[in-house]
Amino acid sequence: MRVAVLAGGRSSEHEVSLESAGSVGDGLRAAGHEVVWVELARDGTWRHDGVELALQPGRGLLDVDAVFPALHGPFGEDGTVQGLLELLDVPYVGSGVLASAVCMDKVLFKELMAHHGLPQVGHVAVQEGILDGAVERIAGLGLPCWVKPARLGSSVGIVRVGEARDLEGALQTAFGHDPRVIVEASATGVEVECSVLGPTSAPEASGPGEIVLVKGPGWYDYEAKYAAGGMELLVPPRISDVAIERVRSLAVRAFQLAGCSGLARADFFVDGDEVLLNELNTMPGFTSTSVYAKLWDASGLPYPELVDRLVGIAVDRYADERRHRF
Ligand SMILES: Nc1ncnc2c1ncn2[C@@H]1O[C@H](COP(=O)(O)OP(=O)(O)O)[C@@H](O)[C@H]1O
Ligand SMILES: [Mg+2]
Repeated sequence: MRVAVLAGGRSSEHEVSLESAGSVGDGLRAAGHEVVWVELARDGTWRHDGVELALQPGRGLLDVDAVFPALHGPFGEDGTVQGLLELLDVPYVGSGVLASAVCMDKVLFKELMAHHGLPQVGHVAVQEGILDGAVERIAGLGLPCWVKPARLGSSVGIVRVGEARDLEGALQTAFGHDPRVIVEASATGVEVECSVLGPTSAPEASGPGEIVLVKGPGWYDYEAKYAAGGMELLVPPRISDVAIERVRSLAVRAFQLAGCSGLARADFFVDGDEVLLNELNTMPGFTSTSVYAKLWDASGLPYPELVDRLVGIAVDRYADERRHRF
């Protein structure tokens, strides 16, 4: 197939996306596909072979059979690009508009998962300018607590608040990124991640892995995520068999409840047999050495087969959705 790889994008994860997209392109070629590289600049313009693209609704994209949006964060992973690809009328890898947007918004995601009884840390949502009662409710979460912009990623704008007097500053930091903020109670234990792959109707979970922090402040911040040697992935994780099975089944349930498609990385806090869902990333870091791909590799699915499967799922989903009347 002829597959467009979208690379870069407008978010602060632009460089990370270029790395992901480079690997995706290599993997697709290794699987026998033709790759059409489309680079999205920080200013939002799209280029192929140095020429700026003029997109036409209903006309597809550069005659490709499918698109692999290897984009992270706002304007890439949040439903916006997915909406554009829907209007272009082309199959694309990964979740659709709604699931992408839901997983991007930590408040909405937590409330949806809570509605279905999935275990998570306690939280308080705060909208800028509407503080009614929030400070009292935040106090109820205890200390430390975590203050985060609701719709960002890569740990950008997140503050661990250890003392009550630091809460105000942490909220200001988060509001600098997003008028929607979430404050969370602190989880204990280790961080464990699990890769999910498949259509919404039949997703599969990889064996999970444990994040071992090497660099950074003792939590999984930007440096630990992206500095060379910032973290190590331990497969299998040092958790009980009961916890491993909980992680895998919660990963699949969360994927289906959010309506995800194709792929997502599900992240957890695990303490003993207690497993708390942290988040789903609908387009996690996607180099061949990123956690998502490494977990599949350890589960027996090599990178070229992984990207090939994803393109197949995208094409099937496109065909399936067109069987419905609208
Ligand atoms: N409630 C929490 N309890 C303990 N650690 C947390 C909590 N929330 C976030 N962290 C730490 O901050 C990191 C980033 O938070 P996360 O919610 O995953 O944001 P992002 O979407 O930026 O990855 C986590 O991987 C973890 O190390
Ligand atoms: Mg995270």
